[in-house]
Amino acid sequence: MTDRVAVITGAGSGIGRASAAALAGAGAVVVCADLDFRTAAETAELVNVEGGRAYAQRLDVTDAAALQAAVIGVHERYGRLDVMANVAGAVTSRGPLASLDEGDLDRGLALNLKSLVYGCQAAARVMGRGGSIVNIGSGTVDAAVGDLAAYSIPKAGVLQLTRSLARELGPAGIRVNTVSPGYILTGMTAAHWRDASGEPDQELRRQEIERQSVGIPLGRPGESAEVAAVVLFLAGDGASYVTGQVIRVNGGSVMPL
Ligand SMILES: NC(=O)c1ccc[n+]([C@@H]2O[C@H](COP(=O)([O-])OP(=O)(O)OC[C@H]3O[C@@H](n4cnc5c(N)ncnc54)[C@H](O)[C@@H]3O)[C@@H](O)[C@H]2O)c1
Repeated sequence: MTDRVAVITGAGSGIGRASAAALAGAGAVVVCADLDFRTAAETAELVNVEGGRAYAQRLDVTDAAALQAAVIGVHERYGRLDVMANVAGAVTSRGPLASLDEGDLDRGLALNLKSLVYGCQAAARVMGRGGSIVNIGSGTVDAAVGDLAAYSIPKAGVLQLTRSLARELGPAGIRVNTVSPGYILTGMTAAHWRDASGEPDQELRRQEIERQSVGIPLGRPGESAEVAAVVLFLAGDGASYVTGQVIRVNGGSVMPL
């Protein structure tokens, strides 16, 4: 990845942070974009103290104009864009599908699908010929987890976005793939073991991990770095003939044919 340029959204935490570290560790210049500039800057600092080259940028991926401007800005600054990793995402609302209102659905779609559409478009425009786009999906699509429809419906769309774009952009040598994480220990999952005051509760953590690990053949949650390793693979030349695919990083929790 030496001297290649990568934009990673959601780079302030979890899978995005680990992906920034992985790509920078392989030699890429990494733009760490996140809604939270402070955590994005922490990621850049973590990368840079290890000898990598990373820069932080505040970016709300639900702001299509800002997302496009950020990608164009990176291309203008470095003269190239090789990798776009659309990692930012979150559960924006929970509850039965029957009681979802328009706001719930709109927030889920804006963050977990539309931002990826716009991120892919912006990247494809500046990449020209050659490049790799990696979208982050979710195992909730395979498992149809209850109460998460406003999250899993957009995430299902990410798979189709990936397939459609892979077909469109293949002739330009741009590969597009999805990484679909299972149960990964990140800021997102840590929200489940906070006590009433918002502090992490170790007993709640143990119980939640035990509960979630049932049915995972590898018997444990994944680490962000284990997802980032697959992002790095898809970003690089080792995956030169891989496009339009979804790679599940889930400890075997679902194994579709
Ligand atoms: N952790 C899991 O178990 C799991 C499972 C399946 C899929 N995922 C997906 O992995 C991706 C990364 O999640 P994570 O688990 O690392 O969570 P995380 O909460 O640790 O990190 C998500 C990051 O995205 C950023 N973000 C949120 N909204 C944003 C916005 N509008 N603009 C820019 N940045 C924004 C947050 O500030 C945060 O830094 C998400 O797309 C998530 O849906 C995670």
